Amino acid sequence: MLYPLVQLSYIVASILFIMGLKQMGRPKTAVRGNLLGAAGMLLAVVMTLVWIAQGGVSAQAASFWFIGAGVIIGTAVGAVLALRVQMTQMPQLVALFNGLGGAASVFVAAAELFSRSGGESKAMTSDVLLAIAASGIIGAVTFWGSLVAFGKLQEFSWMKKPFKVPMQHVVNGGLTLIVILLTVIMLQSSSIGIHITLYIFIALIASALGVLLTNPIGGADMPVVIALLNSYSGLAAAATGFVIDNNVLIIAGSLVGASGVILTKLMCKAMNRSIINVLFGVMDGGSSVGNADELYANVRSTTADDVALILETAQRVVFVPGYGMAVAQAQHAVRNLGKMLEERGTTVEYAIHPVAGRMPGHMNVLLAEADIDYDKLLEMDAINPTMDTCDVAIVIGANDVVNPVAKTDPKSPIAGMPIIDVDRARTVIVIKRSLSPGFAGIPNPLFAADNTMMLYGDGKDAVLAIAAALKDASR
Ligand code: TAP
Repeated sequence: MLYPLVQLSYIVASILFIMGLKQMGRPKTAVRGNLLGAAGMLLAVVMTLVWIAQGGVSAQAASFWFIGAGVIIGTAVGAVLALRVQMTQMPQLVALFNGLGGAASVFVAAAELFSRSGGESKAMTSDVLLAIAASGIIGAVTFWGSLVAFGKLQEFSWMKKPFKVPMQHVVNGGLTLIVILLTVIMLQSSSIGIHITLYIFIALIASALGVLLTNPIGGADMPVVIALLNSYSGLAAAATGFVIDNNVLIIAGSLVGASGVILTKLMCKAMNRSIINVLFGVMDGGSSVGNADELYANVRSTTADDVALILETAQRVVFVPGYGMAVAQAQHAVRNLGKMLEERGTTVEYAIHPVAGRMPGHMNVLLAEADIDYDKLLEMDAINPTMDTCDVAIVIGANDVVNPVAKTDPKSPIAGMPIIDVDRARTVIVIKRSLSPGFAGIPNPLFAADNTMMLYGDGKDAVLAIAAALKDASR
């Protein structure tokens, strides 16, 4: 009687996941979507626990005490992370979550194998064995790949520059072939001892592959890599669902896998890169922009008072936010300055680059938090054709996403990435603390352009100072 009820609850949970995903597609309904997905997961977990309590799963595989301890530790760690982690550190957190999902798949598949080794070993069908191998391979690649991605996003200095092992592609191809070969041998064998030994080798080689595949990928391509690893973690979970015959895990894993692939495709489009190019094209980090000191010899700086004077006569102002706006938490100050300008009759818009900041939709989230109308947020493709008629572009904490080198230097780590064409605005004000490079680590000729002026300082302080100066000027 309980079994059909559990399966029914899994279907309800899956419907909630799908509805949640749909609602997460729009900022207005995103919070509700998140809650629906969480409710679906809660339902699935509670029903699985009830099922275990009623003896639905063998006691060996599921001890209530272990599960309880896992839930308590997991909840405590999750709560601390949710409260402590800054918005700007989200991608690292997502990378860790992806990695832990992958590791869980490796261990669950291993547990299934080991549980069959003692006593009377049950026959292992080849589809279960295949699912076990897939969990081990995808899970291990995801775990180690995510750890490397975490290190790069955390900007550990020793991981910043991508390195390439000699004959990287040959080594990776060779390791992939070995993993496939071991899987085939595993499927042919009927000995549980051989299955376990091969599984350990498969997981170890896949771990090396995870590091080798992710390590050479340049920093600027990290958004794509995170989306791809997210997809892998879903595929690993789906494979594990087949191992332990759990329908909701198969469905949830497939949804994560599919949405990760869609996100990867969107990210590739935003960066104008093909996935093959991201995965196999090692960026050398070199650039023909040259020496930053020479490039920046004629950079002009300005003051908040002077910016206010320029803004007084501007008819159209475009704000271009980037990672620095998130660091400075300047979104409310930007909104207020925008409102002041609008009250003076100026047209104000916000240009959103798809990979500005450190996570997909980062700028949308921040500007929505500050209650800026969605219809004033213009995507890159919509705003670029109109940049010639922009009187003042205020770049706040953005760097790579406005770097013209992306269009001019094929050797640059951001080569081919579409940028917001602020260089075509009549006047460009760049607000940042120094001339330091952005995430991609390269100089930006925009700062030295004839129509650009640098306003040095923290993003929020600088915007507040401009607003104060504008207020004084209009008295
Ligand atoms: P970045 O190129 O990273 O530049 C951010 C700039 O903000 C820095 O040059 C920094 O200069 C400035 N800044 C930092 N703190 C500041 C503060 N308190 N006040 C004012 N300015 C501050 O940012 P972007 O233009 O948004 O480009 C995003 C980059 O991150 C791209 O390369 C993208 O590929 C990568 N990335 C994106 C994602 C996603 S999905 N969005 C994920 C991972 C990586 P100063 O130090 O001189 O102030």
